[in-house]
Amino acid sequence: MRKVVCVQLGPPEGLVVEDVPDVDPGPGQVVVAVRAAGVNFVDALFVSGEYQIKPPVPFTPGSEIAGEVIAVAPDVDLLAPGDAVFATTWLGGYSEHVALDAGRAVLLPPSIDFGRAATFSQSYCTAVFALRERAHLTEGDRLLVLGAGGGVGLAAIDVGKALGAEVIAAASSEAKLAAATAAGADSTIDYTDEPLKERARELTDGKGVDVVFDPVGGDLAVPALRALGNFGRYVVIGFASGAIPKLPLNQVLLRNRSVLGVDWGAWSMQHPGANDGLISEIVSMIGAGVLNPAKPVAYPMDQAGKVLRDLIERRAVGKVVLDPGL
Ligand SMILES: NC(=O)c1ccc[n+]([C@@H]2O[C@H](COP(=O)([O-])OP(=O)(O)OC[C@H]3O[C@@H](n4cnc5c(N)ncnc54)[C@H](OP(=O)(O)O)[C@@H]3O)[C@@H](O)[C@H]2O)c1
Repeated sequence: MRKVVCVQLGPPEGLVVEDVPDVDPGPGQVVVAVRAAGVNFVDALFVSGEYQIKPPVPFTPGSEIAGEVIAVAPDVDLLAPGDAVFATTWLGGYSEHVALDAGRAVLLPPSIDFGRAATFSQSYCTAVFALRERAHLTEGDRLLVLGAGGGVGLAAIDVGKALGAEVIAAASSEAKLAAATAAGADSTIDYTDEPLKERARELTDGKGVDVVFDPVGGDLAVPALRALGNFGRYVVIGFASGAIPKLPLNQVLLRNRSVLGVDWGAWSMQHPGANDGLISEIVSMIGAGVLNPAKPVAYPMDQAGKVLRDLIERRAVGKVVLDPGL
């Protein structure tokens, strides 16, 4: 079977595709034939060595997959060959076949295709955890989403609308804002040529937004914080811009604002039962049409480096998967 291998930390162009012996399920495991491997910003951070966890090389990136079970260990009775499943793998997903603990594979309902199944779990769990559990977003709140044409940004728009918020999407290009509008955003700001704070204030009749969802960081952070109204909540998701901003605390004191950190990955590992519940809930909401993850664009596995480069250089719009069958 073939898999993508990171032989040395650095730029994604260093990734190689290797032919390796096939995998067998160990005790308690199943083997999944991957139909789609979600490509996430965190994969690029693992490959460059910039993520908080640094796996030893060589390793295979790929943090979420969907596919078909093709083998099960004798002690596994919950899954059988032919079952469609998806899973968060953190590493190893960019591969034709993946062996993983059966408990980590979630049965996929027929209403969700492999592409969307390989791309919603991280982004939607993050968005629901951040907006509902941390920011307590409620009906009628005004939500400003930065990086709104990227993976977690689009999920935040969809989740924000499902929670009854009015959503302002902010991004750097027409294509990304069009994707954000298609995902349900009520209004848009192009922060490459519109002043973020002033436009957000204008769009909320001068009151300011209730919640900022920020996966970008950098220079956008201070104007986004200043766009918050009374009791506004600033949700720190990530620093895709590469720059960790410093926030002036006087702007937090003013208007009784709060700044909230979100580390869904750590929370999901500390509370696996609660995270399983969150995933089931999101799957039901997708099945019921309450949430509608966008269909990703698929690339062959040998394009992994190019696809990660597109993410790093802000060219990617929406979600992307690798399809080992292409
Ligand atoms: N805290 C958590 O639990 C959690 C969970 C999932 C992801 N994250 C983090 O959230 C961030 C976004 O993840 P994602 O999967 O949504 O990534 P993505 O699909 O690549 O989207 C990130 C967006 O950030 C913006 N951006 C601005 N400057 C950038 C730069 N220099 N390079 C790349 N993007 C830049 C881009 O939008 P514009 O071009 O429109 O500015 C891009 O669409 C990452 O840092 C990731 O690690 C955190």
